[in-house]
Order: sequence, then structure tokens, then C-alpha cells
Amino acid sequence: MAIFFVNPVNLIQTMTMALDLAVDGVSLHQKRTAIICCHLAEKLKMSSTDEQSLLSAALMHDIGAASSYEERKRLADSRNTEWGEKESIYSHAENGYDLLKSSRSFDHLAEIVRCHHDAWDGGNPSGLCKSSIPLAARIIHLADRIEINTKKSGPMLYNCEPVRKIIKDYSGTQFDPSLVDVFFDCSKKESFWLDLTLPDKSSTLNARLNMGSAHFTTEDLLNVAELFATIIDRMSRFTATHSRSVSGVAVFLAGYCGFSKNELYMMRIAGLLHDLGKLSIPNAVLEKPGSLTAQEQLIVRQHTYYTYRILEQIEHLNQVAEWAAWHHETLDGAGYPFRLDEDSLTLGARIMAVADIFVALTENRPYRKKLPKETIMRIMKTMVENNKISGRLVELLFDHFQEAGMVVQTMEDWAGEHRDSY
Ligand SMILES: [Fe+2]
Ligand SMILES: [Fe+2]
Ligand SMILES: [Fe+2]
Repeated sequence: MAIFFVNPVNLIQTMTMALDLAVDGVSLHQKRTAIICCHLAEKLKMSSTDEQSLLSAALMHDIGAASSYEERKRLADSRNTEWGEKESIYSHAENGYDLLKSSRSFDHLAEIVRCHHDAWDGGNPSGLCKSSIPLAARIIHLADRIEINTKKSGPMLYNCEPVRKIIKDYSGTQFDPSLVDVFFDCSKKESFWLDLTLPDKSSTLNARLNMGSAHFTTEDLLNVAELFATIIDRMSRFTATHSRSVSGVAVFLAGYCGFSKNELYMMRIAGLLHDLGKLSIPNAVLEKPGSLTAQEQLIVRQHTYYTYRILEQIEHLNQVAEWAAWHHETLDGAGYPFRLDEDSLTLGARIMAVADIFVALTENRPYRKKLPKETIMRIMKTMVENNKISGRLVELLFDHFQEAGMVVQTMEDWAGEHRDSY
């Protein structure tokens, strides 16, 4: 397997964009929170290692809510410091802790994420208070509330005084008073606020994240893909192992097509991330028991576009982006979102489409049970006849139907065994 190195800054910034996806675009809540953290870190003169952890954690601090679109919306809409039920604000922090703890690349951020809503004066499930709460968590807690209370429409500088007042009211109870002082100091600058209007242009964030960054290996990349596959698959109980199963079947087919070891590795990552853009779809749509309305179908159609736009930004992953994101394109050019046809659809993309359809038909859905072999074969044959998917690949799949079914079964058994941690 060819080993290559990925810039973690590029990877973290890009992948965490998926966590801010919404039906109407990208909210950028976490990115803006990270930009605010940059300003605070600069004043605090943090070491570059501590700063890197702070900014990486800020970019994914709400990762524990990512599997629930509705929960993410609720968090983003909760103004001031009134979050309703106390436990409900902590549950996504706990989930985030569990997810990151089990990820080899990000386990050092788990504790920060767990404490990112801890109140300065205590009463937190962590049992921590005041300076025993990790500094990075205290900073993110403050930055998160500044971001949430900053209005997303109207002139940005109108926010300065109202937000400063809210934060001051909770100094010493919710927030570390010394950090509130730092905030008052750096938020005198207009640029503190105006940086939030151009989050993609924030050279401050890029420069600071880049300082002394180590590289991620291909193996780390796979770990990150697995972390996101877990988040995506948790969105619906009907698709608890979908990404892993599609990944497994796609690798299985690619192996028969003579893909190299390195290509198989890339196919594995592509399969894990093929539905990354699903994080833009409300769970109510994914779990709907009946058929989708025309409008809901349009929302679903967004997902592969986002998968592509996110993955194409990561170095070395151009091919992965295509294999992953073109799985709803069809050979007759009537698929989505790019309306590609057989002239542009590569073998890797065709494999992913066949793997995705096969796995979907073998899974239970809110509106139907998993289908028997004969029905699956009939549906897929009709798709071949209508020039939707590759006949050669479907034939290959049918020749190894039982083995492909075993790949899916193995994933389901694995998920059953890991029910608590998965
Ligand atoms: Fe949060
Ligand atoms: Fe947040
Ligand atoms: Fe999909």
C-alpha cells in the first residue's frame, strides 16, 4: 500500500464542514467558533501545540450532535445561555467524548469536547469546576456562546455591544472571568467581528492551524473516514451499517475487477464516505415511514453534491471524491447531481453505484422490509436494461451473490456486537 501524508489542517477543516451541513447550506457554526478561539488564543499566547488542539476541538466541538440533524438545529438556535434541560446540553458533549475517544487520530481532543459546556461555577456532570475544567474547553464554551448570540443577518458590528452584555452577565457563573476579560479586550477591534463574516477567508485560522502541524498518514485518514461513517450511519436505525457495508461490497467488487492494493484502500475510504453529504438531510426525512414528497426528494438529492464538494478539497482524494460522490449518477445521464453519463463515469464510480443499490436492497427501510434475492436480482436487472448501471458489474455481483451478502452480514454482526460503543 502506498503511504502518503495528509495535512491535518486541510483534513480537519474540510471534514468538519460536513458537521455544519444544513438543508439550506452550511451554517459554519463550528468554523466561526474556531475563529473566535483564534483571537482568544492569540491574546493568551498559548503554545502552538495547545492552540492546535484548541482549534481542532473547536472545529468539531458539536460532533456528538452530528447524527441528529434536529439536535444540531436545536443547539444552533439556542440563544443566550438558556439551554432548557441541563442534561440535554451535556448529552451531545458526552456523545462527542465517546466518538473521539474511540478515534485514534482525535482521542486527545475527547476531554476538551466533553467539557465544552461546563459552567465555570460547577454543577457539571464532569464534576469539574473553575480552573480544573480544561482551558481549551473553557475557551470553546465562551466562543460558542459568542458565535450563537451573533446575529447572522444585518450589519455585523451591531452585535458588538449586545453580545458583550450577554457574556458579561454570565461572567463568573457560566464563564471564566479572566477569559471574559480577554474577550472584552480583543473584541474592541472591529476586525474581531468582521472576521466572522468571511469565515472561509480567515487567514488567521489557517495560519494558526498550520503552525508546527504534524502529518496524518493514510492509516489516520482511514480512521477519520471510519469516524465519519459511524456518524453518518447513526443518523438512522435503518442504515446502522450502510456505509461500512457499501465500503465492503465496493472493495469486494473492485478486487474482482483487478484494482491494485492502493486502489482498494482508496475504495474502502470512498465507500465509508459516500453518503457524507447525508448530514444535510433532516432525520425526519431519512426515517419517514411513507414515500417522500417531491420537496423531500429534492432535499435528498443534495447529499452527493456535498459529498463531492467536501472530499474534492482534500489532497490526494480527488479520485475518492469521484468514486464516492457519483453513486447516484446513471449511465444514461439522468442521475444526480452532475448528470454525468457513460462517457465520464469511471469504473470506480460504477462499482460504488452497484454496491450502494445492492446494499440498500438488502437492508430494511422505514417503508419496507429487506428484499429477497429474486426481487433484488429483478430490480437490478431492470436497471441494467434501462441503462442505469453497469451490466458487467451486476453480472459479477450475481456470480458472487452469496459472498457479497456475507460482506453485508458481517458488518451487521459487527454492529450488533458493538451496539453500545458503536
Ligand atoms: Fe455544543
Ligand atoms: Fe456549538
Ligand atoms: Fe447516497
